[in-house]
Amino acid sequence: ACGACTIHLDGQPVRACQTPVSAAAGKKITTIEGLSASAWGRKLQDAWVALDVPQCGYCQAGQLLAAEALLRTTPKPTDADIDAAMSGNICRCATYMRIRAGIKLAAALTPAIGGAQ
Ligand code: FES
Repeated sequence: ACGACTIHLDGQPVRACQTPVSAAAGKKITTIEGLSASAWGRKLQDAWVALDVPQCGYCQAGQLLAAEALLRTTPKPTDADIDAAMSGNICRCATYMRIRAGIKLAAALTPAIGGAQ
């Protein structure tokens, strides 16, 4: 329910806690450890550091994976795009404004790569 366990299956964000192993068979699984392989992921990581986005950090792996999936499909997201894409990822520390700013900074850092991964 919180989105902290968000991973990608074939590039699509899913909740690991609700995904049976059989649903992952034959699919590419990406966790937070694999995010650096994505240009969007690296820009998000840079933005997260620059803006000091995390507080306790519990939710942040899921937040980053959800944000990466958003930027791949919507390279210049509006506030409404961000709210819609991130609404399933809860942050008990209420870092939502920094998360939104981080996504916007990452989008601003990547004008040359468009939606490429
Ligand atoms: Fe603490 Fe999100 S940073 S739950």
